[in-house]
Amino acid sequence: MSRKFLITGNWKMNLTPDESVSLVDEINAVVGIQTNVQVCVCPPFTSIPVVSTKVEQSEVLLGAQNMHEEPSGAYTGEVSAEMLRSLYVSHVILGHSERRQYFGETNTSINSKILSAINANLKPIYCIGETLEEREAGSTMEILSAQVREGLSGFPSSALDLLVLAYEPVWAIGTGKTATNDMAQDAHAGIRKVLAEMFGESAASSVRILYGGSMKPDNATGLLSQPDVDGGLIGGASLSAKSFCDIVQAAMSAP
Ligand code: PGA
Repeated sequence: MSRKFLITGNWKMNLTPDESVSLVDEINAVVGIQTNVQVCVCPPFTSIPVVSTKVEQSEVLLGAQNMHEEPSGAYTGEVSAEMLRSLYVSHVILGHSERRQYFGETNTSINSKILSAINANLKPIYCIGETLEEREAGSTMEILSAQVREGLSGFPSSALDLLVLAYEPVWAIGTGKTATNDMAQDAHAGIRKVLAEMFGESAASSVRILYGGSMKPDNATGLLSQPDVDGGLIGGASLSAKSFCDIVQAAMSAP
C-alpha cells in the first residue's frame, strides 16, 4: 500500500501573527504547489486566522496543536473542533508529549479528543512515544501498544482514512538526539502491527505514521527511507523555512 508522505511543522508556542505570515509566505513560495508530498503547518491558535488566508491558495494544509473535546461551553481558555474547522483547519495534533507532561493529558483524555476531532471531520495527528526510562527498561513496545489501544479505543474503522499517528520518542524531542533509522523503523512496524490487530491488516497498511523528535534536513533522508516511516512531525526545524522545506525536499526524493 503506498502512503503519501506528510511533513508537518509543529510551531509550538512560537511566532506572533506577523512572524507566522513571514514564515508561511516563505514556505508557500518553495513548496506551496507541489503535491506528491503533503505539507502541513501547525501555528499557535493566535496565528491560525492569518495563516489560514495565506494557505488558501496553496497546497499547504493547516493544522492546530490542540483542541477541547466539547463543541462549546464554559471551558475558559479552550478551543473546539468546530471553531478550528471554521478557519479551514484540517489537522490537529493531539496527545503531544508536552501536553501529556505539562497539562496532565492521558491516553483516556486524548481518546475523547480524538473521537470528537473525527466527528468534526478534523484529522487527528495522534502523538505517542516512550520516555528514556521506559526505553532503558525495555518497555518501549508495551508503552506504545497501550497508547495506541487506549488512545484509539472506540475509533470507527470507517474513519481510519482521517487518522495520522506520530511516533515521537520523548527523549528525542528538542534534544538533538534522534532515534536511529532502525529504532524508528522497529517502532513504526510495531505500531502498525498493533493497528493491524485492532483494525485488520489492510486498514493498518493505509494509516500514515510520522516520525518526530529532532528531525532535521541531515537526518530526514535516512528516516524517511524506512518502509514504515510516512513523514515527519517537525518542531525546531519547522521554524526556519529553509530547513523545513529541505525536509520536504528530502521526502520528495525518498524512495
Ligand atoms: P523537535 O520537536 O523537532 O524540536 O524535536 C518535535 C515535536 O515536538 O513534535
